[in-house]
Amino acid sequence: MRYQTALRSEAAILPARHTMPDLSSPDRRLVLQSGAAFVVALLGPGCATSLIPSPPVLGFTSVPPSAADALAVPAGYQATPLFLWGDPVGIAGQMPAWRPDASNSASEQAVQAGMHHDGMHFFPLGHGGSRGLLVLNHEYTDETLLHSDGIASVTAEKVRKSQHAMGVSVIEVARGAAGWSVVRPSPYARRIHGATPMRIAGPAAGHASMRTAFDPTGTQVLGTFQNCAMGVTPWGTYLTCEENFHGHFGGPKEAAGSATEDQKRYGTVPGGSWVPWWQTDERFDLTRHPNEANRFGWVVEIDPMDPTSTPIKRTALGRKRQESATCTLTTDGRVAVYMGDDTRFEYIYKFVSRDRVRPGGGAANHEVLDHGTLYVARFGEGQGEWLELSPGKNGLDAAAGFATHGDISIRARQAADRAGATKMDRPEWIAVHPRTGEVYVTLTNNSQRGEPGRPATDAANPRARNLAGHIIRWREAGGDAGATQFAWEFFALAGDPSVPGAGTRYPSPDADAFGSPDGLHFDSGGLLWIQTDMSGQLMHKGELAGLGNNQMLCADPATGRIKRFMTGPRGCEITGCVVTPDRRALFVNIQHPGETSDDGGSAGSWPAASGRPRSATVLVRRSDGGIVGT
Ligand code: FEO
Ligand code: CA
Ligand code: CA
Repeated sequence: MRYQTALRSEAAILPARHTMPDLSSPDRRLVLQSGAAFVVALLGPGCATSLIPSPPVLGFTSVPPSAADALAVPAGYQATPLFLWGDPVGIAGQMPAWRPDASNSASEQAVQAGMHHDGMHFFPLGHGGSRGLLVLNHEYTDETLLHSDGIASVTAEKVRKSQHAMGVSVIEVARGAAGWSVVRPSPYARRIHGATPMRIAGPAAGHASMRTAFDPTGTQVLGTFQNCAMGVTPWGTYLTCEENFHGHFGGPKEAAGSATEDQKRYGTVPGGSWVPWWQTDERFDLTRHPNEANRFGWVVEIDPMDPTSTPIKRTALGRKRQESATCTLTTDGRVAVYMGDDTRFEYIYKFVSRDRVRPGGGAANHEVLDHGTLYVARFGEGQGEWLELSPGKNGLDAAAGFATHGDISIRARQAADRAGATKMDRPEWIAVHPRTGEVYVTLTNNSQRGEPGRPATDAANPRARNLAGHIIRWREAGGDAGATQFAWEFFALAGDPSVPGAGTRYPSPDADAFGSPDGLHFDSGGLLWIQTDMSGQLMHKGELAGLGNNQMLCADPATGRIKRFMTGPRGCEITGCVVTPDRRALFVNIQHPGETSDDGGSAGSWPAASGRPRSATVLVRRSDGGIVGT
């Protein structure tokens, strides 16, 4: 199957083309039907309009690479910080102001924006498109910035504040004459964080490896943290992904030698914690509660419309360092969820639900993500297949430790090894084109590809010591997201083309260079927004030196043109963005501005002229009110 012929006719693939039917508004929680009526209902009148735009044109002037401690957008655009770490989310009666000396208490942090904004989505609230909810992740903490006196001493209060500084914010935003602003107070305002009660559902719920002294049933857990990329279900709920959860589990380093192979694989090793929560919160001490770490690394479903709802960890989607949970529909109306596992030589997964999406929003679909089939990708030359991870399939049996779906979901990485999946260069975000159904994935980098004792290059990961990363796109057989075969090609081999031997390859001569692609977002017009994360040790070095600070680009997949739309302040990563349905506002997250790189460079204070730098959601608009990116 060749890439160009992998699709059937456009008419035949209609359902799979609509990746993100915007059912998030209560207005759009329509009565869904089956077949063609299902698709029409999913689109809705407003959505149908937004999905049939004029051809995308990248009419703006590219911004040049930058090393300044400032955010830059093209001429004719405005960028305004909207929601910063420490800003109150807007819960009535609980709106403590952020204090520049970081003296806010743990309790205050629990109702303020967390640190390190990441994945994000906009859920319309009706009102003619002038109100909505922004739901965004807070990925990790910078403990030096978080506490007035840093982390030299570990106290229970600091550990609680650290837990409260991650998770998810739900804020209400409204459009007025001066653009969008945060509504405070709002009945929707909410913080979900590292100590919020949540439920465990799916095949791993109740599994012996999920039971702890705190939860003998293996069905309830406190908290979500290290929330990286995201997804949105067709029924209007938000999916947040638990990525580097291992960084918060530890224990005495003398016990490191007792770690099992499975613990080493996920990085949950005594003595290995990044933030020593275990010193004051015993559930993070692996020597005392080893199963607690099994309760993290999941996709968590949140209903943003109901601030009293309990978040649910959906274990049928498999445990990994979750990066992306991108939803689309199969031709028969089931949901497919694409996921990456962001570690060198880990895998790309797909979950396909057993049941069709039903009418009635979240309540009618509360178990759709609990039953289905998990697959992992194997890439050949230009084509690939989805390998089923189920008992009795692909070498997964009781003798190998995979007697049940629960065994497989908890140890998804090991199951994928056994099935023979392709070890990728750090899969990050995944996005589905709203009209063609093509799936794009960023492989951000892999400094160890081809090193002695490490996997060699292969068809889908073609560069040794791949510092600049690449983007692959694929088409499912027959245009059906439920297919088990696909055809793929490179969209870009990133890096600076002026560096000899870099092996870069862009889809068009009219492409601005970038390195280490990470965040991806398709707007409803089919423009692909690409965000970069040249991490601290890579930025400003070697073949990436000419690329400056991290950036966001806008691509037209039809022509391959890629233009640099934004450059971020020093030390930041740009990650997480969403274009509103009317395409006239773009919300972008600036994460860890001012972060000092390993070589001591990059410190900054954005968005203020001095003081502690703060991660922020930024509102970007055209000064003339036009459609962004055109
Ligand atoms: Fe949190 Fe893999 O980025
Ligand atoms: Ca990322
Ligand atoms: Ca990254």
